[in-house]
Amino acid sequence: MIVLGIETSCDECSAAVVRDGREIMSNVVATQIELHKPYEGVVPEIASRLHTEWIEQVVMAAVKHAGLGVSDLDAVAVTNRPGLLGSLLVGLNFAKAFAATLGIPFIGIDHIRAHLYASQIEQPLEYPYLGVLVSGGHTVICKVHGYDDIEVLGTTIDDAIGEAFDKVAKHYGLGYPGGVVIDKLSQSGNPTAFLFPGPALQKGEHPYDMSYSGLKTAVINQLDKFWDGTSEKSPENIAASFQRCAVGLLMRRVKLALEDTGLTRLSAGGGVAANSLLRSELKTLEKNGITVSFPSLKLCTDNGAMVAGLGYRYLSEGFRSPYDLNACARVSAFKRSYP
Ligand code: KG4
Ligand code: ZN
Repeated sequence: MIVLGIETSCDECSAAVVRDGREIMSNVVATQIELHKPYEGVVPEIASRLHTEWIEQVVMAAVKHAGLGVSDLDAVAVTNRPGLLGSLLVGLNFAKAFAATLGIPFIGIDHIRAHLYASQIEQPLEYPYLGVLVSGGHTVICKVHGYDDIEVLGTTIDDAIGEAFDKVAKHYGLGYPGGVVIDKLSQSGNPTAFLFPGPALQKGEHPYDMSYSGLKTAVINQLDKFWDGTSEKSPENIAASFQRCAVGLLMRRVKLALEDTGLTRLSAGGGVAANSLLRSELKTLEKNGITVSFPSLKLCTDNGAMVAGLGYRYLSEGFRSPYDLNACARVSAFKRSYP
């Protein structure tokens, strides 16, 4: 089955063609980064307008790069939740029209589930496993029982991890998008120049929950308080110290969740899963017998391939979305989404 995947939930306009859920025949990502850069963040109105202008070319490029014609497509999968409403609507309506014109099925896909599924396309992992979803909008540690069966163990109670990277970078004028810049600057920084505090693990009902707003505030407003007194207060040192703390905070919960659940497999996904420190820290878990899998860099950040890959799983089980399917900016905690 050849599935076209469309992703327009935020600022990446992406379309991909995936055969049988495994073979990525094309994955075109038209990034809007340069156009949002002057504002140091995504401007929703600009994002949706650009999606409207670009979507047709991006989809046609994906079909062409796959070496196919539109009549070769068997189905269309599209992100319809969660995300920026205007942006989601562009992809969703394009997908509906495209599928209706070709007379093929279409399916609406949850963006968060798609991130969690991304690594499965390249490196299938047996269920259940510990899922670590880290993006600009979400930070979730979960038990993944199946592609549509996800049990949340812990989540952020305030900012998402990627949001913290972006806000710190914005405050210090380090560049945009923040996560990428901080990752790069950290390579030449001293991670202990500032010893920022990480919230202690809660002993109560939510031991895997995280909080990033305290760390963000410490980095932005209380630099001197956590300074080692000797290191240079350089962007590199601020970035490295922040990154060490942001990743450490997550890793402590991940390790606890692995211990408590006894799970021996882990998969990470989402834009922050591209972070080099997080990837190397997760890799060290292999010493403890944990199988660790994360998507290649191109499949960490928003892309159509993860949508097509997950779409294939639903479609091959006979699920279809109705033409009155709407877009949703937010989703409540994970529940089975189909039927
Ligand atoms: O998954 P994604 O493309 O979009 C959302 O669903 O949010 O994630 C975007 C987030 C941004 O916050 C960005 O700064 C962060 O991922 N990010 C990174 C890295 N690359 C992207 N954060 C840390 N290190 C990176 N290398
Ligand atoms: Zn995303």
